[in-house]
Parts: sequence; C-alpha cells; structure tokens
Amino acid sequence: MAIVFHENTGEFHLYNEHLSYMIKILDNGQLGNLYYGKRLRDRDTFGHLLEGGLKSLAAYVFENDYYFSLQHTKQEYPSYGTTDFRYPAFEIKQENGSAISHFQYESHVIYKGKKKLKGLPATYVEQDSEAVSLEIILYDSVLHSRLVLSYTIYEELPVITRNAKFINHGEQQIRLTRALSAAVDLPDYDFESVHLAGAWSRERHVKYRKLEQGVQSIHSLRGASSAEFNPFLALKRPQADEFAGEVYGFSLVYSGNFLAQVEVDTHHMTRVTLGIHPDHFEWPLQAGETFQTPEAVLVYSNTGLNGMSQAFHRLYRTRLARGKWRDQVRPILINNWEATSFDFDESKVLSIASTAKELGIEMFVLDDGWFGARNNDRAGLGDWYVNREKLPDGIEGLAKKIEALGMKFGLWFEPEMVNKDSDLYRAHPDWIIHTPGRAASPSRNQYVLDYSRKEVVDYIYGLMSNLLRESSISYVKWDMNRYITECYSTAMEASEQGKVFHRYILGVYDLYERLTSEFPNVLFESCSSGGARFDPGILYYAPQTWTSDNTDAIERIKIQYGTSYVYPVSSMGAHVSEVPNQQIGRITSLQTRANVAYFGAFGYELDLNVLHMDEREVVKRQVQFAKKHREFIQQGVFYRLMDPFKGNVAAWIVVSENKSEALAGYYQVLNGVNLEWRRLKLAGLDEQKRYCVNGDQDRIHYGDELMNAGLVIDHRKLCASDADFASILFYLNEV
Ligand code: DGJ
Repeated sequence: MAIVFHENTGEFHLYNEHLSYMIKILDNGQLGNLYYGKRLRDRDTFGHLLEGGLKSLAAYVFENDYYFSLQHTKQEYPSYGTTDFRYPAFEIKQENGSAISHFQYESHVIYKGKKKLKGLPATYVEQDSEAVSLEIILYDSVLHSRLVLSYTIYEELPVITRNAKFINHGEQQIRLTRALSAAVDLPDYDFESVHLAGAWSRERHVKYRKLEQGVQSIHSLRGASSAEFNPFLALKRPQADEFAGEVYGFSLVYSGNFLAQVEVDTHHMTRVTLGIHPDHFEWPLQAGETFQTPEAVLVYSNTGLNGMSQAFHRLYRTRLARGKWRDQVRPILINNWEATSFDFDESKVLSIASTAKELGIEMFVLDDGWFGARNNDRAGLGDWYVNREKLPDGIEGLAKKIEALGMKFGLWFEPEMVNKDSDLYRAHPDWIIHTPGRAASPSRNQYVLDYSRKEVVDYIYGLMSNLLRESSISYVKWDMNRYITECYSTAMEASEQGKVFHRYILGVYDLYERLTSEFPNVLFESCSSGGARFDPGILYYAPQTWTSDNTDAIERIKIQYGTSYVYPVSSMGAHVSEVPNQQIGRITSLQTRANVAYFGAFGYELDLNVLHMDEREVVKRQVQFAKKHREFIQQGVFYRLMDPFKGNVAAWIVVSENKSEALAGYYQVLNGVNLEWRRLKLAGLDEQKRYCVNGDQDRIHYGDELMNAGLVIDHRKLCASDADFASILFYLNEV
C-alpha cells in the first residue's frame, strides 16, 4: 500500500495489492483522474490516459488549445460552467450572484493512518499502519477559499475513502448549494448500475439498470436515508456476476438526504456523484467557517458482487462499527412488540421473559408502550418516564426482575419524536420541525423534534441518560418512525433554513455519540419502522439495525439478501416471529423462520407461552444451535449463492475466517411436482480441506468437490416437513 507523488508529472498514485487510483494536477491547476481500477505497477506517468482531442461544440480552457476541455476530461471534484456541462460535485453561490469557481492545486500532505471527521461518522484505523491518507489542498483566489480533498487507501481492503472540506478565508459570505462527498469519472459506460430500492416492509430489493447516455439516480429527500433507496450504488460490467468480473461499489456514510447519481455524457464517459442531496440544502459559510462533507466509500472488486460486498462487510464490521459490541457475539433476544403491542403489564412481560429464559434466550427487550400515556400510537412520545400503571416498580424494578431471571434487559426509545398529546409537546410546541403559518403534517400521529437545536438534543439526552444511569439497561432499541415534512427550524434565520436537514442529522449523531460514549457497555440497535435508516452512518454508533418490520421468513430472504450487498450479517437484526405472519399472513414452519434468521443478529419476537410444548423444544434447540455457531456466522465471510429475485430458490453461505466451519442456507419458496435434480455449489471453502456435512460421517467431501460439483439437494428431505416454504441448512466442519 502506498501513495506516491510524482513531482515531475504532478501525478498521485494510490495503490494496494487490489487497486490503483491515479490523480493528476491538470494544466489549469484543477485535478483530473487518470485511472481507477485493478492494480497497475507504478510509473512516473500515466498522463497518456488523459484523453484530449478536438471535439466540435466543446469549449476550451485555454485560448488556442483546442485539446483541453473539461467537457471530456475525467476529473476528481468537478465544478460546472467552466467548459464542463455535466452535473458537478459542488457549487458555490457568491455575493455577486455568480456560481463559477476555480480551485487550483496549492499543496498536499501524505500521512500514515486516517483522521476522524468532526461530528460525522466515518471509517477509521486502529493502527496507523493500516492505511495511508492524502490531502490535496486547492485554492480559489477570487473566493479566497480552500477546498481540501481527502483520500485514504487501506492496506488490506480494495477500498478508498473520500471526503471534501470547504474553508472560507475571504471577507464575503459564500453559499454552498451543492457539496457532494465524491465524484468519480470512468472512461466508458459499459456498465449496469445496481441499487437497493423498496418501501416499508420490502426494503433493499436489488435492482439493475443498463447505463445509457443521460442521467439516472437514486435519492432521499425524506430526512432519513429511507426504506425507498439506500445510500449505495454499484456499477458492474454486464458480464460480471456474484463471483467474477469488475464491480465498482459506492456507499455513503450518512443517514440523511442523499443523492447517488450516474451520468453518461456525450462521449460515453460515466460520472458517478455521491453525497448530501443538493435539493433543500444551502450552507452559508461566513469568513473563517468550514463545511465538512460526509465520507464516501469506494470499493473496487474484480471478483464480482460478492467480492464487493465482502469488502464492505469487513470494513463496516471492523472499522466502522465501534465499541465493545463490535467484536462480541450478539445476545439472543426476545422482543415483546409482536407479542403484545402496547397492551402489556409487568406480569405479562415477566411471563414472556421467564419462558424465554427457560428456552435459553439471553435478553428481554421491552418495546414501545412503557412510558408516559403511551397506550396507543396517539400519545406519549417524548415523555421518557415510566408509566407506573403498567410497570409499578418502574423500569428499574422491572430490569431487576428480568435480571433475577438470569437475563439481560433492553429498552425501546424513539428519541427524535413527539406526539402532540404529550407533556413534552404541551411544554414546548415550538420544538417540532414545522413551517410557521403552515399545517404540520402528522405521520403515525407524531411529529419530528427539531434536532438542529442543541437544547432539544440536550433535553432528550437528559431523560435518556437518567434512565440508563438509574436502571440496569444492557440494550437500547432506537426507533424512528416517520420522515420529515415542512422542514423548517423556528430557531434559525431565514437565510439558514437550507441547513436544517443536515443539522438535524448532526443532532442525531451528537446524541448517539454522547450516549454511546457514556454507556459503552450498552448495545444499541437502530430501527426506523424496520429498515428505513439502515445505513453506514448509523452503524458507526449502533452495530446492528432492525432489518425490517417484515418478519415473514420468505419476505426476509429477499430483504436480507439485498441488505447483504453492503451490510454484514452482524448488522442485521433478524427474529423468528409468530404465524400467520403479522405483515403478510403467511404460515411458515418454525424451522424455516429460524433458518433465515440465523443469518443475522438472531432473536425472537412472539409470545413463547402460546407455543405448544413440542414447539418450545424446537425453539430450545434453535437457541442452542445459534449460540454454538453465532460467532462465526456474525464474523465470517458471507457469499450469496442463489438469487431469490431470479427464481423460486435462494441460497447463501457463511464461512469462518479460517475456513474450518461453514453454514449454508437453501430455501425453496413453492414446491413443485416431479422436479429436476438440483445441486448447490458452495463457495469460500478451502479446496484441500475435508468437510463433514451436518455431522453425517457418510457425507465427508473435499472443499473442491463442494464448490465445483456441489451438494445434491435431496428434495424429499428438503420437503420432509414443509411442502411450500421449505428450507434446509448445511453445517460443514473440517475433519
Ligand atoms: C416500529 C419498529 O420497527 C417495530 O419493531 C416496533 O418497535 C414499533 N415501531 C413500535 O412502535
């Protein structure tokens, strides 16, 4: 791994054993991109890769030089209107009304390690030797402003991280109306784009689109990263699949409004831009002020989509997630939401918990409804003190009783929200995000607290931290059940309103930072009506996220499969719930429900007391199985094997780091008659090792057989207990 600067040619080469990324100082002082792809050996110059040429209708940077136009130059962080007509990475409005800028190379620094981003989540290093970083400082002499472009390359991962920082050194106020985290220009457009789209309860379904000249994008303007799109985009070569071929992945470490855009230009070059959505964003910078963009993470894979995902998984599991829980196996929990909704009291809660304890479950999580006048979703949000009618001994008393059973105790909050029917709203009606003189639109009868205001964040911090101090709480589920409408902060000047969406997210991060650092032993799980804020920004604070409110096993196959494009198994909350399933009405076996949920942070979400004794025995065995294998499942290498979006079957496998164990899941949605024979080709095993399948001494195979010939799926066994919605697990251990 290195970052080399070739002074004579003004070229930077960032490389490790996987990739090369090359930047050149252009003749006009701006930064161009020469190459991003598979590792190339270093040379003094790759300047010939900068395509230049006579193009009709192009405008040129210098008089009498018909070859240099930004229109067809691959750039690092382009601006609009100085011969480039594509969408830019940034735009600055000035006092005279102009939006033209020209940042020129001034200096650079290369250093070992990686700096933190102030107030923002970002990937990190534990030792300086893990990565090397480059900061390129550019200056606009008319604006008297600096732009700092930062890059980090990791030693062992095919990853480059980027961010941009603006500093106003001038006298005049400037206004950032677009400040993306990265732009990447690629020389051709022979790609399909891949993104994750959906809605509540069908989050992160995988979508493909062929690139054509023009613009295509995904975005959120909802104040959260959203269930509709995820802040992730990949470009894959058309022939690339899960195991082979070139894939460029782009992910934004951010939880608010975002834009991820691909533009194919007039000469069929591709520009990817990624960052905070420029709509409804405007950031005034007074003299001396700075604006820092969130971090963009770029992954290069020439081992297909699985290669890309594995790089994201490793980076996000080990160098984005933080704290005690990062590397620890996650407790098997039971959550009462689907069992009781708001309708519970202490004895009901304790009866669910004690049965769960008998079956080996380790933690009880009390969901919505324990506070204020919260007996339905019309009241109570914001009043984070216990409802003594339901819980006479308070949270403190309940936590003690749960712990006396031998379990840990976890608690639900929705810290960013308020109901109008609450003491908090009655005391501070101006604390909600709303536009004066306009109606504030409710959603689930609730309103969004104005987290752009420090006093609001401080107040909620006070209530939450008191509870966490007073009671023995080992886990917090942080929910967020609506998007932002009528975005406006009554605490800010008219000219500052373009800051509100971003300031809101900074407020959320601030509260997370305070609570996670003050309570380092607490495991935080984020949630947003299921998976509406499943993004890398939140993973920095909460190492797991409730993947979806949809707990149906068959629906979850698609949701977890899509989520795995970016996010590791350890980050996906996955529970076995009751049947008929509350979201879709489908009946699946306990076995299939667990066979899907094992590939996540495993738990239960039902009243175990209503199960028959034989079903409880099944649960007991499932809990034992999960305990035995969760460490390698949560920390192993995950491969997608068969795509549920393409047919009736799906499969995946997790292989332990040392390849001595693996667990594969195979799922068949509907049964058929007189079916063909099927084989499941595994992946990630050691070709030379011998593996025993499901403890059967007659089924011992070398890794190469399992990966190339595959396992024959015995249809009778697969469907022995389930006709439709059947599933089978293959546990392999080295012998
Ligand atoms: C939405 C979450 O996704 C559910 O798990 C549950 O916590 C409810 N909110 C409670 O209101």
